[in-house]
Amino acid sequence: MQLLSYGSRPLLLMVVVLLTAACAIQPIPVPVVESGPQVVNVYSARHYGAVEEVMERFTAETGIEVLISQGSDQSLIERVKAEGAQTPADAIITINAGSVQLLADEGLLATVDSSVIQEAIPDTLRDPEGQWVGLSQRVRTLMYNPANVAEDEIPTTYADLAEPNWQGRLCLRPASHIYTIALTASIIANEGIEEAERIVQGWADNNPIYINSDTRILETMAAGGCDAGLTNHYYLGRLVSENPDFPIQPVWANQESTGVHRNVVAMGVLEVARNKQNAITLMEWLATEGQGATSDTLPGGNFEFPANPAAEANPIIVGFGEWQVDPMPMAEYGRNQAEALQLLERTGYGFSEN
Ligand SMILES: [Fe+2]
Repeated sequence: MQLLSYGSRPLLLMVVVLLTAACAIQPIPVPVVESGPQVVNVYSARHYGAVEEVMERFTAETGIEVLISQGSDQSLIERVKAEGAQTPADAIITINAGSVQLLADEGLLATVDSSVIQEAIPDTLRDPEGQWVGLSQRVRTLMYNPANVAEDEIPTTYADLAEPNWQGRLCLRPASHIYTIALTASIIANEGIEEAERIVQGWADNNPIYINSDTRILETMAAGGCDAGLTNHYYLGRLVSENPDFPIQPVWANQESTGVHRNVVAMGVLEVARNKQNAITLMEWLATEGQGATSDTLPGGNFEFPANPAAEANPIIVGFGEWQVDPMPMAEYGRNQAEALQLLERTGYGFSEN
């Protein structure tokens, strides 16, 4: 796999030469697009290293080169919309089901009718219309430092962190990040707007330290800078893999009520993709061969839970215990996001680090 800008040299050169010639006659901008049978261009919001082993293995096994262009969910969606039919992207990978659903709602994603995907991925983890598919599961949940949290105050629900005993003791991610927005959107869907507002108001009133990195949240907690907070499970998995004595404990939230907030890494193929079949091949491969616990799989490379139930999960995250999940259909996650942002703003929840 290579970054988008490092495409196949001879082809790129040819495109540049042709472009130069074309421009001499008629100065209409023509997009430089990688195409051909051996390439797939992917806009990806995964941010766990520029080159993921799983993509390198895909290329080794299929001969199809994966050219990745990275950005946040929000920025990549805006790019796809702005580029329209000229987009060089064949597929998009987001870190939130709600994000890819927004593109589906705008009619920008192809309907992929694939029996491979239908057999590999449970229908709860993909779009019923076939416009996107979840490829790995991530759980956003409670974390605490047992050295600083008494046993009788260990939080078990998202609402617990709104209680006044957490005043000045929390680390939370700012509202500008999609993880906070998606979690808040799910609380609105489950609890209704009034109760969601009470919970988020309580978080904000507890004057958390806002840190825009789940890894730094956990490290700050381990160093005693805060006692509890919320992160995605795989950041703890990664830190525990580096240091088995890393002192933070996870608690799966809301196990007696709604279940814990689970989201997916989701992939959709663009309707205007020039390498549509390659994109579908990548999607099918990631849903099958690319699933597993090892570092050359999509979930395993990042300590996520596989989306394919036939695949193994990494033993470190299996060791965090079984979880009851919020059964909310993935397609719902996008619907409350705008309302979630407004709620976060209303309550004075932080939008940046403090
Ligand atoms: Fe992440």
